[in-house]
Amino acid sequence: MLEVNGLKTYYGKIQAVKGVSLTVKQGEIVALLGANGAGKSTILKTISGLIRPSEGSVSFGGENITTTDAHAIVEKGLIHVPEGRRVFAALTVTENLELGAFTKKGAKSKTAQKIAMVFDMFPRLAERHKQMAGTLSGGEQQMLAIGRALMAEPKLLMLDEPSMGLAPIIVIEIMKIIKNINEQNKTTILLVEQNAKAALKLAHRGYVLETGNITMEESSEALRSNDNIVKAYLGAH
Ligand SMILES: Nc1ncnc2c1ncn2[C@@H]1O[C@H](COP(=O)(O)OP(=O)(O)OP(=O)(O)O)[C@@H](O)[C@H]1O
Ligand SMILES: [Mg+2]
Repeated sequence: MLEVNGLKTYYGKIQAVKGVSLTVKQGEIVALLGANGAGKSTILKTISGLIRPSEGSVSFGGENITTTDAHAIVEKGLIHVPEGRRVFAALTVTENLELGAFTKKGAKSKTAQKIAMVFDMFPRLAERHKQMAGTLSGGEQQMLAIGRALMAEPKLLMLDEPSMGLAPIIVIEIMKIIKNINEQNKTTILLVEQNAKAALKLAHRGYVLETGNITMEESSEALRSNDNIVKAYLGAH
């Protein structure tokens, strides 16, 4: 579904991505793991057209989207939930969700139906539908950011560190929901995480990124039982 080939991305003279190739097949959850500054967010931004690579290509559903506009990429069903759960603080939960459907010019009833689906998946959001998004807890804002992305009917959902800054119990809740989105909605997922432990519980495969290079590609099971990964990312000493 997604094929990234030889991607190189620079910020001025700094090369953040140094020739990355990766694939995500339909129906998969693929984890992209790596430490701070490894280049994970840069890869997602390059895939979604927010920044341009100097070399390499991105194809989605067999179509080359390397130079496609970011909004056109969204319309194709490739949806990026950026780092840091950016919700519209001064709008309500429901209004935030309505905005997520803006690229789909369908009937209002369709939007209402999709909001009901999101509320089904996130009962906490349903309880707080009239609340200003800025007053939600961190975990609830992350749920809203994911819910808003679902309103755009993603074929491929790219999530940038959904567990960041959240209490372990909320991380478990968010990860369960991500698994549900994959299994029930048949949405393919590229999951960027520093929390390898949480990510590898639900991902089918994973890539390890180190300073702009992919250094490993394995099944989640193989990564979980790899001593180097355990030491570097799974909190063993
Ligand atoms: N706008 C920018 N201008 C210059 N350098 C940047 C910019 N954004 C990122 N970088 C640099 O590119 C490298 C990769 O950053 P990136 O945000 O992709 O890392 P990351 O793996 O997502 O890290 P984190 O886990 O902390 O989010 C870092 O060295 C970073 O300082
Ligand atoms: Mg990042």
